[in-house]
Amino acid sequence: MKVLRTVSELREYVAELRGEGRTIGLVPTMGALHEGHLSLIEAARRNGDAVVASVFVNPTQFNNPTDLATYPRCEEADLRLLEEAGASAAFVPTVEEVYPEGTDAPDTHVFDLGQVAEVMEGKFRPGHFQGVARIVSKLFRLVEPDRGYFGEKDFQQIAVIRRMAQTEGIDIEIVSCPIRRGADGLALSSRNALLTPGQRAVAPEIHRALAYSVNYSQSHSVQATHDTVVERLDAQPFMQVEYFEIVDGRTLQPVADWADSDYIVGCITVYCGKVRLIDNITYRKPEKI
Ligand code: PAJ
Repeated sequence: MKVLRTVSELREYVAELRGEGRTIGLVPTMGALHEGHLSLIEAARRNGDAVVASVFVNPTQFNNPTDLATYPRCEEADLRLLEEAGASAAFVPTVEEVYPEGTDAPDTHVFDLGQVAEVMEGKFRPGHFQGVARIVSKLFRLVEPDRGYFGEKDFQQIAVIRRMAQTEGIDIEIVSCPIRRGADGLALSSRNALLTPGQRAVAPEIHRALAYSVNYSQSHSVQATHDTVVERLDAQPFMQVEYFEIVDGRTLQPVADWADSDYIVGCITVYCGKVRLIDNITYRKPEKI
């Protein structure tokens, strides 16, 4: 596996792959890799793509400086995992390499991300999706991948990236990959490493409450389903629900009734102590989206 640290090394390597007639799959990450990230690499390999994975803790998407400062970093282990998973190359740049213009340049392009970026994470993390769009669009333009692979754990992020690619005129297939969970149901996340043992013990309640709510929803209203999840989680030690929204899976706008859409997803953010965990569950999904 090639380890690429500069944009020019990356460009050169991508040109080499193209010369060999390979299709390219891009897997953007912020490192502290786990099975969830590696499942994206597996998906890309299954499609026959040469996999370029990026490991970059992107400062422009953190609206909370403590979150950026405490974000786990473990480059050596990450590179080992990427190699074992069969990535062709890892792009591991510095902040200066990615943002020669500086991270807070006043004339930064504002992305048109539409209504999918205004709700949920967009409301609670102002500027977050602009930062995500900024880094992901840079990576798309540098690598010009055939496909970009993203995890459904960040359900809203996928919708935002699809919209960004569309409004920026970037021709790419966005492949969404299912959430990987631990045996206890907790969605794998780099942030799980920040939980104390006590917090880690209650964190699986998030998925348990969501999974239970799927059955509950068969005989209860959207509002009652919402409330049962929030009440159950808020009653746990360390836990505080920031938001739980039951939304249309395409527009991400709230639904009032189960009959309102054929694609309905519940998206949740819970503080477990100081650690912000996100997860989601599907209530209804058509065979073809
Ligand atoms: P990060 O949180 O490192 O996640 C990188 C990719 O892995 C994302 O597409 C995310 O949805 C996916 N992922 C994380 N946990 C997962 C799980 N348990 N199951 C399946 N997929 C999972 O998301 C980001 O980084 C950043 O915002 C990024 C897109 C890299 C831009 O900086």
